[in-house]
Amino acid sequence: MIHTDLHSYEPRQGHGLPHDPFNAIVGPRPIGWVSTRSAAGQVNLAPYSFFNAFNYTPPLIGFASIGRKDSVRHIEETGEFVWNLVTRPLAEPMNASCAAVPPEVNEFELAQLTPVASTRVAPPRVGESPVAFECRLSQLIQLQGADGTPVNTWLVLGEVVQVHIARTLLHDGIYDTAAAQPVLRGGGPADYFALGEKFLMRRPR
Ligand SMILES: Cc1cc2nc3c(=O)[nH]c(=O)nc-3n(C[C@H](O)[C@H](O)[C@H](O)COP(=O)(O)O)c2cc1C
Repeated sequence: MIHTDLHSYEPRQGHGLPHDPFNAIVGPRPIGWVSTRSAAGQVNLAPYSFFNAFNYTPPLIGFASIGRKDSVRHIEETGEFVWNLVTRPLAEPMNASCAAVPPEVNEFELAQLTPVASTRVAPPRVGESPVAFECRLSQLIQLQGADGTPVNTWLVLGEVVQVHIARTLLHDGIYDTAAAQPVLRGGGPADYFALGEKFLMRRPR
């Protein structure tokens, strides 16, 4: 079926809808729950849904900070961060950790989470999270529009240098994505998703 009844728009002219559909369309998205530690030792934890994985070898992940937030400042200072998996039981603490609080407020305390020392980097990981990636900054890129105009958004890319996986999520050595109950971000102000139906599809040879 070819769709002919379309709402088409040029984003620069506005979407003409009650809510911007952009991030509801590119969704649901995994969440980058990022812990950092400033050079002075201040710890920060914040969720980023402009987040994804980009490479296998070396493993690279990235997130975009809209505005130069504490996470970016800390990573710029130290070159280190930790990604923590948000699972369904951690949805509320994750949400609590996004509060706009002064840099000196530790979101681990705010969200009643346990900071656990990392192996290779200084920022702690979330002890309650069953999966964590310790990362070293590989690139910090200020985004720009197609005409080269800089945008106040910062793309942080990091190499995963240490992985932690709760053994309960390894079944015969295979990581069980569904068992982890990852939380995914939808488009509206309060929309989240749990994992839906799994289906198998092999690549063409
Ligand atoms: C589910 C979720 C996803 C978010 N995704 C982003 C994002 O992709 N980029 C961003 O800049 N802020 C995002 N935010 C908002 C930040 O988490 C929030 O601004 C936070 O206070 C930033 O913390 P910091 O200033 O301590 O680094 C998100 C918040 C939530 C709850």
